[in-house]
Amino acid sequence: MQQLPKSLIEKLEQRTQNDALRQLPEQSTLIDFASNDYLGLSKNNTIFDAAHQYLINQGNQTNGATGSRLISGNHNLYQEVENYIATFHDSKGALIFNSGYDANVGFFSAVPQKGDIVLYDEFIHASIRDGLRMSNAKPYKFPHNDLGALKKLIERHKSNATEVYIVTESVFSMDGDSPDLIALTKLATSYNCNLVVDEAHALGIFGKEGEGLVQHLGLQNEIFARIVTFGKGLGCHGAAILGSPQLKEYLVNFARSFIYTTGLPPHALATIYFAYRQVQTDKENRKKLNDTITFFLSETKRLKLTTFIESDSTIHCAILSGNEKVKNIALQLQNKGYNVKAILSPTVPKGQERLRFCLHSYNTPLEISGVLNTLKKAISL
Ligand SMILES: Cc1ncc(COP(=O)(O)O)c(C=O)c1O
Repeated sequence: MQQLPKSLIEKLEQRTQNDALRQLPEQSTLIDFASNDYLGLSKNNTIFDAAHQYLINQGNQTNGATGSRLISGNHNLYQEVENYIATFHDSKGALIFNSGYDANVGFFSAVPQKGDIVLYDEFIHASIRDGLRMSNAKPYKFPHNDLGALKKLIERHKSNATEVYIVTESVFSMDGDSPDLIALTKLATSYNCNLVVDEAHALGIFGKEGEGLVQHLGLQNEIFARIVTFGKGLGCHGAAILGSPQLKEYLVNFARSFIYTTGLPPHALATIYFAYRQVQTDKENRKKLNDTITFFLSETKRLKLTTFIESDSTIHCAILSGNEKVKNIALQLQNKGYNVKAILSPTVPKGQERLRFCLHSYNTPLEISGVLNTLKKAISL
């Protein structure tokens, strides 16, 4: 087999020296504080059985999509599921992508044009950054959740821009916090900007039926586009962009990550559909998740763990600084049976290395007290 080029080997060695080499872990049997399966739906047999039965009743005989949606892969379930998703999210249109990564890359590489500007939160997800790299629009970042700085950027650049896009996440994946979405929407509207909100970590968690933070706050009609992903709270896979029917038509024509890829197989679509129905109807599970979050917060307060970033979402991060230190404390927690992940630089900025706790409806008070007490001890050593 041919050797990896020397320059690439050196890059890997540099990662090792920086204590930042990424390695694939084995599947964990520890108590789950790491997965995005916030509602435990990845293991929900009702969804699995309903999807399976639905396909049998439909006489479906295909395992694979057989092609791109524009060629042969546009299974008739797509229309049904997209209509359901659009209605659920009070949107005029929904377009399913194979993943949230694909949705963001597709949107940001295709929608903002030369002459447009994109103002994005500095902590925005890598998939949005990657999409922007393929765009001819000019991107500018603003400090995390800093609406004052954003306003100044709008005022500085607006007159030279054809369109202005503002991008944020309703729950930030690496911090768990949220922007002031009401104020942000007002700001975007008052300057006639197009607001785009990634709801990856809000779907299933916020809103009366788990619709996300945007609908929880009643802002859906003022937002240009929303990205919802199914691999987190819904426990399955895929994503959708919510917006106007023209936006949908535009993306079908110009989003390359939509066009040049095989569509999702029918079983994936049926699973998305029944996962949505489960989220919509199972209010008890959402309440359990909220109780878990409330208990986690009360325990961090009781134990005076002040190193956490303020958050009322499922993601709670303890900033510990330094790859070696974070890795070491994560290992101590893992040795005690808790699967907590260290988030290292360069995934987060240097000095902002952290332990990331993901909370689930199935985490018990005993597990939460246990992991936080272990953390407290590890920090004070
Ligand atoms: C905010 C955000 N957007 C998009 C994505 C990508 O979604 P997916 O995992 O479906 O590709 C993620 C997942 O890591 C995310 O955290």
